[in-house]
Amino acid sequence: MSTQTTKNTAVIGAGVIGLSWAAMFAAAGYQVRVYDPRPDLADILHASVALYISQIPAVQNAGADVNALAQNVSVAQSVEEAVCDAMLIQEAGPEKIEFKQALFAQIEQFAAPDAMIVSSSSGIPSSVAGLKMRDASRLLIGHPFNPPHILPLVEVCAAPSTAQRHIDVLMDFYTHLGKKPIQLHKEIKGFVVNRLQAVLIREAAFLVEQGVVNMAELDELFKQSLGVRYATIGPLLSSCLGGGAGGVSGFMNHIMNGLIETVGQTPLSAASIDLLETQSQEAYPAELRAQLIQKRDRQQIWLVSGLEAV
Ligand SMILES: NC(=O)c1ccc[n+]([C@@H]2O[C@H](COP(=O)([O-])OP(=O)(O)OC[C@H]3O[C@@H](n4cnc5c(N)ncnc54)[C@H](O)[C@@H]3O)[C@@H](O)[C@H]2O)c1
Repeated sequence: MSTQTTKNTAVIGAGVIGLSWAAMFAAAGYQVRVYDPRPDLADILHASVALYISQIPAVQNAGADVNALAQNVSVAQSVEEAVCDAMLIQEAGPEKIEFKQALFAQIEQFAAPDAMIVSSSSGIPSSVAGLKMRDASRLLIGHPFNPPHILPLVEVCAAPSTAQRHIDVLMDFYTHLGKKPIQLHKEIKGFVVNRLQAVLIREAAFLVEQGVVNMAELDELFKQSLGVRYATIGPLLSSCLGGGAGGVSGFMNHIMNGLIETVGQTPLSAASIDLLETQSQEAYPAELRAQLIQKRDRQQIWLVSGLEAV
């Protein structure tokens, strides 16, 4: 059965992430069949879906009928029932390689030939998760951030064998949901944001373990500085603007490379700094930097006062 004209979707796994996906798909007008062997599936959908839909910023702005949208979600009794006529299948089961491999082989048996099959995995690339499929080239990663119905990013990552047209369809789908999908240029375990997160959390735990600060102090240190900064600009634009006239290369050479050594990591090579300098000139041309600083400052002022008010 050709399904691309249908608005049927499936979510496999109704834990933290799957429940949130179900709410997002339903809010965008898709029918969603959810499969999970948990015995309380109907109850948890009832308790979560309408609440999550009501929290989606676009739903709040539109004043949409939350209960009517929640009716788009229904329980499936099996993987087959969930996926058989879905145009998109979003997997959100346990983060175990063997589990994902077996599940995707099963989904492939029942899914329509043109259905998109997507894994929410936090770090298992599709070329690994799809190893037991006959044709893994249509398995993609659509990795959200918790809580997915509120945080905009979805990392989209594909195996080298995946055709760009499949990726484009998925990017359009997430954009239509109101998400901010970003396609990675190549596969890497852990994808991008979780790799950044892993380094940060490792160092945070080290500082607590060493007794430099306790856990609550560490969280406060972060929230009152990098948290606000990184809500408005990324770490590399921040380095670029922090370097003043010297730009990103000035910042790396004069400040960051020494700090990188202090925490026991290998300093950036001259070639790596040159690459950042070249890309920074393309992405953030010198004539725009004053505007970027003003925008950063306006957003940070707005955030600092907004956070205090909530
Ligand atoms: N929690 C996060 O912050 C987060 C963020 C992004 C992505 N992810 C990824 O999303 C996926 C789900 O994570 P989660 O945090 O929602 O996990 P979770 O443990 O909350 O939910 C997993 C669900 O899978 C169900 N399940 C178990 N066996 C199943 C089967 N055979 N078929 C269908 N469902 C089955 C479980 O009953 C459970 O409800 C993982 O791959 C995880 O890496 C998690």
